Amino acid sequence: MTELSVNGIRLAVEDVGDGPAVVLVHGFPLDRSMWQHQMAALNGYRRVALDLRGMGESEVPSGGYSMAGYAADVRMILERLVLDRVVLCGMSMGGYVVFECLRLFPELIAGVVLMDTRAEADDEAGALARDAMIEQVRSAGADAVASAMLPKLLGSSTTRERPEMAAQVRRMILGTPVPGLIGALEAMKVRADSRPLLPQLGRWPVLIVCGEEDVITPPDLSRAMANAIPGARLEVVPRAGHLAPMEQPEVVTPMLHQFLDEHVRLVQV
Ligand code: MLT
Repeated sequence: MTELSVNGIRLAVEDVGDGPAVVLVHGFPLDRSMWQHQMAALNGYRRVALDLRGMGESEVPSGGYSMAGYAADVRMILERLVLDRVVLCGMSMGGYVVFECLRLFPELIAGVVLMDTRAEADDEAGALARDAMIEQVRSAGADAVASAMLPKLLGSSTTRERPEMAAQVRRMILGTPVPGLIGALEAMKVRADSRPLLPQLGRWPVLIVCGEEDVITPPDLSRAMANAIPGARLEVVPRAGHLAPMEQPEVVTPMLHQFLDEHVRLVQV
């Protein structure tokens, strides 16, 4: 792990391999370790995974928690690592960050991967649920998020067959500092609607991946995104929930690898 000084704070970044670069952005309330399998197995590519501010091993500043703030951190990481064309891959909240990156620095992006995410902003009920969760985090800490989210993060097949994965995800959630949790909840609550952006994404190779058993961002949302993006490829992953890249890495990593081999390597050589 490298620590990079970015926008006045210290971010934890892992940077392995050589080749065209893929930057992996984790979801909420997780950290870069969710990409463990992809970091290990995407040979032929430079793999960069970061902990967003306030999460994982990154510093926990008092502010800067917004999609634009997270995206500005990604941009500075690209600058520090001297990367000028990258594939951005975001899972769930990481996807919201990728949408913001597409708005802020499209010229640095060579391809887009959206996993278990959605383009819509929070509706009124969603925003109220964020407020309720923020209150719970204030009174009960990360435990409140773990209890509320764990049953929904993993698909029913994983929950039934691999209880150790629930323990791993629980540890990740409990390791997230309270200000980072609250910051991310506030940021998600006010994020922009990215649906108007989707037709413009046709200028990039786009892969959309969703767990068949995802109940947080169900496959229909991914189908709608794929239909709105000219040329996008959609893959629905059997026996996976919201954490498809963790739950079914032996399916998702080859999908990602094939997408990169077909679209990105060709573009960059
Ligand atoms: C995530 O997995 O990043 C979150 O569940 C996304 C959300 O709550 O909107």
